[in-house]
Amino acid sequence: MTTTEHEMPVRNHLGLFMKQLVRKPGRIVALAPSSTGLAREMVRELGPETGSVIELGSGTGKITSHILARGIPQERLAMFELDDAFCALLSQEFPRAAVMQLSAERCDEAPLDDVGAVVSGLPLLSMPTKVQRRIVGGAFRKMRPGGIFVQFTYGYRPPIDRPVREELGLSWTVSPKVYRNIPPARVYTFRRAA
Ligand SMILES: C[S@@+](CC[C@H](N)C(=O)[O-])C[C@H]1O[C@@H](n2cnc3c(N)ncnc32)[C@H](O)[C@@H]1O
Repeated sequence: MTTTEHEMPVRNHLGLFMKQLVRKPGRIVALAPSSTGLAREMVRELGPETGSVIELGSGTGKITSHILARGIPQERLAMFELDDAFCALLSQEFPRAAVMQLSAERCDEAPLDDVGAVVSGLPLLSMPTKVQRRIVGGAFRKMRPGGIFVQFTYGYRPPIDRPVREELGLSWTVSPKVYRNIPPARVYTFRRAA
């Protein structure tokens, strides 16, 4: 494996992703890992000034690499991922980041302070509203004021259900469609009203 200055692994671990997808399709809910184009769109607003970052549903680390490439040190990154094989891979590839084999519903337990962004690769729209509430509510509780919650979706509506958006007072921006992804996707960036 080769790495760039910002520790971006070049290998994409497609084989492991596909194996786990066949084993647990209901948990992974994606046809393939995110493309480079989608991963770049997910991290567009991140930079060294973001502080700490939490990633939810890291999978094989495709988006993780791009988070680090924005100048976030591994020590300021925590990942929540349920799958044990993905967690083993993430610990190996990103040894100084915190890999939490816990549900994203517990993301407010991340061992980080000054969290400026939560980047989610979770299949959030396929989760019940009450689970979304725990995940997104926990994320905004953990983040400093002005923090952003970034989520991609293949669908046509915001990937957080309306009751949760309204309870938390969320506004959002949406990216152009990323066609170079299977399937094409958009990235939503949610913020809380000041
Ligand atoms: C669509 S895949 C995304 C993987 C990777 N981020 C990417 O974009 O290629 C969703 C990931 O979320 C994980 N996942 C699903 N439910 C979860 C939960 N409640 N907490 C943490 N991770 C979860 C799955 O194991 C899977 O790795």
